[in-house]
Amino acid sequence: MNRVLKCNESNLKDAAGALKAGNLVAFPTETVYGLGADATNQVAVARVYEVKGRPTDHPLIVHISSINRLENWVRDIPDYAIKLANSFWPGPLTLILPRSKLAKDFITGGQENVGVRVPNNPCAFSLLEEFESLGGLGIAAPSANRFSKVSPTSAEDVIDELSLYLSVNDIVLDGGRSIVGLESTIIDCTKSRPLILRPGGITNTMVTELLGQTIDTNTKHTGARVKAPGLLESHYSPNAKIFLTGTPAPGDGFIALSKVATPSGAIRLISPRDNNEYARSLYGAMRFADTMKITKVYVCLPEGDDIAVAICDRLSKAAFKSIHE
Ligand code: TXA
Ligand code: MG
Repeated sequence: MNRVLKCNESNLKDAAGALKAGNLVAFPTETVYGLGADATNQVAVARVYEVKGRPTDHPLIVHISSINRLENWVRDIPDYAIKLANSFWPGPLTLILPRSKLAKDFITGGQENVGVRVPNNPCAFSLLEEFESLGGLGIAAPSANRFSKVSPTSAEDVIDELSLYLSVNDIVLDGGRSIVGLESTIIDCTKSRPLILRPGGITNTMVTELLGQTIDTNTKHTGARVKAPGLLESHYSPNAKIFLTGTPAPGDGFIALSKVATPSGAIRLISPRDNNEYARSLYGAMRFADTMKITKVYVCLPEGDDIAVAICDRLSKAAFKSIHE
């Protein structure tokens, strides 16, 4: 069994040392928990893929403590990307940029670009600083779930997902619940104009306002080299089938904002008061449905141009099974 440790100073030192020695450390971020490895260590990164059960042509995001370290990993940074980083880092934003020599094929899945992010979470920040003080250059971390499953938003979720696959020298850092609850916004910054590949906590409106131009979104392009796009469309799935339309029968699960009444006999999973709370509690609700062996979950999509866009993106991907099977 791997170790579960609170995020105090001595545990963070241990965790940084474990990473440097080639072990894996699952750690909290404001979006979801990540499964971290030294981003320059090919053997450690290979274990991330093995533990996740993820195809190796899916690239990993490199986490760094500050924008000052960005140039280790990337080159040819357009002005708009510097603006984005200055405004939204630390925060739920991943920038895809042309890679430097440091970003090897085992991180990028063979692509010429790499995703980089500065997370906004005190535990993640201290872990990165400790790791960097040992000479570490970045922590490669996908969400700490098995491939195509729901991302973990607490240390308990990580244990549920991965304890069978982690080994004794790996560590899970417990830093409480992730406050955003959905994965970072990913913006492709390799062209003359930015392109949103995955909506998240940094919204299209926020980016548009900052850059003073309209921004395109193409959510089919994350992991550009993945040959079977259907796989990506069915991401973020619990065991339960998710339905975006229709009425639940008694015993089915139900997710909606608190202002929406529960249909008769349905099991109310969450009643978030606003879209941010919806995002924060959604994945926990999906996991709870699986624990309760609820097989169908009906969802009322939230509205708005804020994090509702990301919620709708994840829910449509989670609903893929119920539509196509
Ligand atoms: O919030 C997050 O981004 C979390 C936390 C842990 O930072 N990480 C996360 O990583 O969600 P992951 O690997 O579960 O999802 C990242 C997505 C994947 O679909 C991957 O294929 C895509 O981003 N991605 C990563 N690097 C990319 C690149 N260079 N080009 C295109 N897509 C990329
Ligand atoms: Mg993921």
